[in-house]
Amino acid sequence: MSQPRILMCPPDHYGIEYEINPWMNRSLGAVRELAFRQWRALHDTLKGLGVQVETMTPQPGLPDLVFTANAGLMFRNTFLSSRFRHEVRAKESPHFDAWLGEHGFEVKHLPENSYHEGAGDALFCGDTLFAGYRTRSDASAHQWVGKEFGVRVLPLELVNPRFYHLDTCFCPLAPGEALYFPNAFDTYGQRVLSTHVPKLIPVVEEEAHRFGCNAVVVGKTVVHNSRCPRLAEELARAGYRSIEVELDEFLKAGGSAKCLTLRLDGEEAASWKEK
Ligand code: ARG
Repeated sequence: MSQPRILMCPPDHYGIEYEINPWMNRSLGAVRELAFRQWRALHDTLKGLGVQVETMTPQPGLPDLVFTANAGLMFRNTFLSSRFRHEVRAKESPHFDAWLGEHGFEVKHLPENSYHEGAGDALFCGDTLFAGYRTRSDASAHQWVGKEFGVRVLPLELVNPRFYHLDTCFCPLAPGEALYFPNAFDTYGQRVLSTHVPKLIPVVEEEAHRFGCNAVVVGKTVVHNSRCPRLAEELARAGYRSIEVELDEFLKAGGSAKCLTLRLDGEEAASWKEK
C-alpha cells in the first residue's frame, strides 16, 4: 500500500471572525494558543500513523483556511476546486488551487452557477459518491461531478442545520462500511444510506454533537474528537482502533478532525484509491 498523504494548514490566522453556521459565535472567539496545540496534536498523531502530512502556508484574513477538506474533491490525479457558498470562504480557493497545481495535480473547476464544498460534502464509500446538499452544496453540482468523473452519485439532503456538511454526520470507513448520525438525514436519506451501506454504525446524539462522525480514517485507525466513548467502543467492536485528539477550539467554527484534513491520495473507503 502506498503511503497515505494528507494536506493541512496551520492555524496561524484561525479565528471566529464571521458566522456562517450555527456553531460559530463571534463573541466566544477561539483561543489561538490552544487551537495551535490541538492542531499540532492532530498533525503529530497523523504523522505517527505513517501519514505524509503536507502543510500549506496560512494566510491572514482567511480564518477558515485550516479546514482543508473544503478545498475541493480529489479523484485520482484530479483536484476539483470547490465553489464556496459564502464569499468569505470563496477567497480561499486561489490559495488551494495554487498549492494543488504546484504539487502536480490537475486543477479543474465546476460550472460557475452552482455551489460545491469539496470533500466536506462529497465522500466516496466504495465506488459511490455520497453527496450532501442544500446548506452548502447544490444537488445539481453533485450530478455534474458524477458525469465528469463517471461515478454513481447518491444525493443526501442535509436537514439539520448543525450538520451542514456531509462530513459532520457521515464517515465512510471502508467500502460498505460507515459511521453516521441518523438525525442529520430525513427518513428518505436514512433509507438511501441503509440500502447502499450494509454496515452502518450510528453515532449517538451527544457524540455527534462533539463531531464524532468528523473522523480521519487511516487504514484500521480512526482519529476523532475527544469524549466520544460510545463511538470508541463501537469502533473497537468493528475492528478499528480509535484515537481521540481534543479539537474543541475547532468545534467553535463547526469543524473537527476530518475538516482539518484533505486526503490527497483518496479517502480510505474510496475503491478507486491507489493501492
Ligand atoms: N467555519 C467553516 C465553515 O462554516 C467550517 C468548515 C468545516 N469543514 C467541514 N468539512 N465540515 O465553512
